[in-house]
Amino acid sequence: MDRFAGRVAFVTGAAHGIGAAAARRLHAEGATVVLADVDTAAADGVARSLGDASGDGGRALAVACDITDAASVDAAVGAAAGRFGRLDALVNVAGGARPHPGLLDGMTDDDWAGTVDLNLAGPVRCVRAAAPHLARQGGAIVLVGSVNGLQSFGDEAYSAAKAGLSSLAQNLAVRLGPSGVRVNVVAPGTIRTRVWDTQGGPDRLAPLYPLGRVGEPEDIAAAIAYLASDDAAWVTGVTLPVDGGVLAGPLARLTRLEEGETGQEAAG
Ligand SMILES: NC(=O)c1ccc[n+]([C@@H]2O[C@H](COP(=O)([O-])OP(=O)(O)OC[C@H]3O[C@@H](n4cnc5c(N)ncnc54)[C@H](O)[C@@H]3O)[C@@H](O)[C@H]2O)c1
Repeated sequence: MDRFAGRVAFVTGAAHGIGAAAARRLHAEGATVVLADVDTAAADGVARSLGDASGDGGRALAVACDITDAASVDAAVGAAAGRFGRLDALVNVAGGARPHPGLLDGMTDDDWAGTVDLNLAGPVRCVRAAAPHLARQGGAIVLVGSVNGLQSFGDEAYSAAKAGLSSLAQNLAVRLGPSGVRVNVVAPGTIRTRVWDTQGGPDRLAPLYPLGRVGEPEDIAAAIAYLASDDAAWVTGVTLPVDGGVLAGPLARLTRLEEGETGQEAAG
């Protein structure tokens, strides 16, 4: 597939996990990718692993970018557009849950604001910086939300911020549609990335998933690539759960598990 030949994608959070997988997928499909991350060393490592980083004519460039800092985002997007002369897709993957006390267990306003800043205001900063470059037929914005934004799985601040992305995408879809720019959200379920390393790994949650496993970063990268591509030319303003079925019927799933069914039997 060559869906992104000649196109430039700006991917935040591209140094690790889902963002790195998205950058790899878009690059494999012909895109020039800008890997924007606070962890510039790791982003550079991903860019180099793509085989044609840095030098003139290469299709992968790592740039320093902190989505909690408007000046940093503006500089990163400006550098990308300046270097490659165009921007066709913004993929905001950077984000994540932050450790804090529970909402009613001592969470401070700063705890709340920090999580919302990273997961909702951060993507807004990226959209503001990138939109002027994207504003033409075929431009696409893909924001990474979470199933937490669609149903209660805990962490109110993170969940509210991710839920906000769906409303943001709808409003931006209406605003930017006439310019030919589409705006969508991918809402992953549990994905095997480093964020689960300190929580006993993701596989303990596998039985909750009707498809019998947690997700891999590549599962999300495939959905991001779809929504960023012309295959989704008439898709805008939607939130697409990519979740192994966890939202399809969690209560029914729990009931079946309690009745003794294993994940394997449920998947088969
Ligand atoms: N892993 C999961 O189970 C899961 C589930 C649902 C949603 N998500 C979402 O997917 C996204 C990626 O998560 P992941 O699991 O790949 O995490 P990860 O920690 O592996 O990757 C996150 C990346 O974002 C970068 N980053 C963090 N803060 C940043 C900032 N302020 N500016 C720029 N870059 C920053 C990190 O350096 C890292 O490269 C997050 O938005 C997360 O909320 C993850």
